[in-house]
Amino acid sequence: MPFRIVSGDITKLHVDAIVNAANTSLLGGGGVDGAIHRAAGPRLLEECRTLHGCRTGEAKMTLGYDLPAKYVIHTVGPIWQGGRCGEEELLRSAYRNSLLLALEKNCESVAFPMISAGVYGYPKEQALEVAVSTIRAFLEENEMDVILVIFDRDSFRFDVRLYSEISGYLRNTYDDGKGPGIILGDVVGSAAVGGGSRPRRSLFSRTKKARVEECARALPEEPVEDEEAADAITPDAAPPVMRMQAEAMYCASAMGAAPNGLAEALSNLDESFSQALLRMIDSRGMKDSECYKKANIDRKLFSKIRSDVNYRPSKQTVLAFAVALELDLNETEAFLKKAGFALSHSNKADVIVEYFIANKNYDMYSINEALFAFDQNLLGA
Ligand code: APR
Repeated sequence: MPFRIVSGDITKLHVDAIVNAANTSLLGGGGVDGAIHRAAGPRLLEECRTLHGCRTGEAKMTLGYDLPAKYVIHTVGPIWQGGRCGEEELLRSAYRNSLLLALEKNCESVAFPMISAGVYGYPKEQALEVAVSTIRAFLEENEMDVILVIFDRDSFRFDVRLYSEISGYLRNTYDDGKGPGIILGDVVGSAAVGGGSRPRRSLFSRTKKARVEECARALPEEPVEDEEAADAITPDAAPPVMRMQAEAMYCASAMGAAPNGLAEALSNLDESFSQALLRMIDSRGMKDSECYKKANIDRKLFSKIRSDVNYRPSKQTVLAFAVALELDLNETEAFLKKAGFALSHSNKADVIVEYFIANKNYDMYSINEALFAFDQNLLGA
């Protein structure tokens, strides 16, 4: 998986290179610097002495010695001084120069701590944004497995607004198994989308049904022509989460009542997952590399999928491509079904991905930050 966020201790990772958030002397310190020197042993310090320091934003490389990692890339992040002393650009350079050095040494995998987010006081949410956006820009042009290591959960400051929106969506949608079962075929409203006569289906747990029905009741009784028209009629008064649920209902009912063109094509069972994927990449005029990079899938895996018409993907892989292809919920369900899977409201990760798709937010990095924030497996492979 080209980009991954993990919790843990960077000194334990079996990767080609780990990055050290050092200081300009390169002679060790506290935090991750201290941990890396302790784990690598005294030979690391001996080699660092030969480097004669390192400027902020630059990077230098040594062997890993007693570490499981082959190399250590020492970089120096900026000390936070309020944000008006070029800290952001210096932090970006620290990530970028470390990645370029790893590339130069043909590293296939590199792990970063959250540079400057500790002793150097960089605000954690901004530090995360700089780290992810710089890594993302590098991965758009290069092939490498890059891991961002979160040592303590407090260092991972996910977008607060997005976090509360997703929490609200989970509260209304996720079935943790304690409430009554999910209704997958239950009638909520009589209106149908897409001209079909089949009743609207609820994907939501019975306990929340009344609140979602309120929203659904605002829908017209007569069938509407298409999902766009349906999406346009969710009651403005409804809180965003309920509106989203109503939109998700339209997608669900459209899935039941009258799949749209792409979903209908996807329901052609003669076509394998791999064939459907390649067809959709072509129909969207995407390059293969553009699609698998957007899906956070590595090139080798994509080549396997391309060359094996009967390739059996994992659910994460199917969902990753559904996001990359910007499928709506209805199309995503049909695509999953082709590989033998379905979205489930008793799976928290599925509900989070559904939130993003229902919101037409196909930013894989945001989705994976959200999945990490809620302790779920990331999308990609
Ligand atoms: N594995 C992964 N991450 C770690 C580990 C570890 N073993 N230990 C600490 N971290 C995380 C911290 O939680 C923080 O999010 O590394 C991030 C960077 O924190 P610091 O190590 O304090 O580094 P930084 O903020 O860049 O300050 C650098 O601190 O240790 C000294 O010598 C270092 O002077 C330099 C300064």
